[in-house]
Amino acid sequence: MNHPTIAFIGAGNMAGSLIGGLIADNYPVERIWATNPLPERLESLQQTFGVKTTPNNKEAVAQADVIVFAVKPGELKNVASELSESLLQKNPLVISIVTGITCQTISKWAQCPDLRVVRTMPNTPALLRSGITGLYANHFVDEEQRTIAESILRAVGITVWLSNEDDLNIVTALSGSGPAYFFLFMEYIKDWAQKMGLTPEQAQLLTVNTALGAARMALESDKEITELRRQVTSPGGTTEQAIKTFEQGKLSDLIDQALNAAHDKAVELAKSIG
Ligand SMILES: NC(=O)c1ccc[n+]([C@@H]2O[C@H](COP(=O)([O-])OP(=O)(O)OC[C@H]3O[C@@H](n4cnc5c(N)ncnc54)[C@H](OP(=O)(O)O)[C@@H]3O)[C@@H](O)[C@H]2O)c1
Repeated sequence: MNHPTIAFIGAGNMAGSLIGGLIADNYPVERIWATNPLPERLESLQQTFGVKTTPNNKEAVAQADVIVFAVKPGELKNVASELSESLLQKNPLVISIVTGITCQTISKWAQCPDLRVVRTMPNTPALLRSGITGLYANHFVDEEQRTIAESILRAVGITVWLSNEDDLNIVTALSGSGPAYFFLFMEYIKDWAQKMGLTPEQAQLLTVNTALGAARMALESDKEITELRRQVTSPGGTTEQAIKTFEQGKLSDLIDQALNAAHDKAVELAKSIG
């Protein structure tokens, strides 16, 4: 199936990014449907992208080979049960970008035990097509459908397959919440530079481009991150003083605790919603 018809159910921010990414990759617009309760949102999707739109989820599903659930977690139960009959009839590939809701829960809500579900965890840089998405497929999904799911999510960045669904909680704590960790670090560095006398513009430019340069080096070099860090930490130099201070303050323990807390919250949310 070269270009299956895709229906985005709940076309908000994330679905908008996916649609934009697919169209930038020359996906045929007539093969994309988007649903939303708000007429203004549908009009804007139609005008911006030229995709087909409807406020009626069942109408979109009836046209589609692939259904992308992109509503908020609290809405998914209603949406899945509303679509139960159509999903049972068609048994399409379902891709969920909804945080925390397991494949089993989606199948249960859709009353469709054999539902083919690829559950994904994208992150906000997807808005700039620079995201990274973890994907997990339940055992009803075949190879061709895995490829379809991957190619849709690749429209907004890199993809990483997981063989264990619980690992999506790790992905949530790492790359899902991760942009905020890096923002926090940049925020502190920028604040320090301003306190030391740089203008906000100078501090912002230096901070953001340092983060970008470091990320590019980590991405493009064949060296480990630890090795790159060692290379810029000359013995007796300025960087070493800062690194020693981080180590004395047990930054690595704090980071472990923070990511554990995010991970535990993802597990807890998944349990409470499911
Ligand atoms: N944003 C991220 O970085 C990110 C990252 C990973 C995963 N996610 C997950 O992606 C999902 C979407 O996030 P988002 O940021 O794109 O949220 P969003 O902008 O709020 O999009 C969800 C859209 O669904 C619409 N909707 C609500 N009920 C509906 C229904 N019954 N039928 C059809 N559409 C309906 C909402 O319309 P109204 O606003 O009118 O209610 C809204 O436009 C969430 O589950 C989130 O957990 C997001």
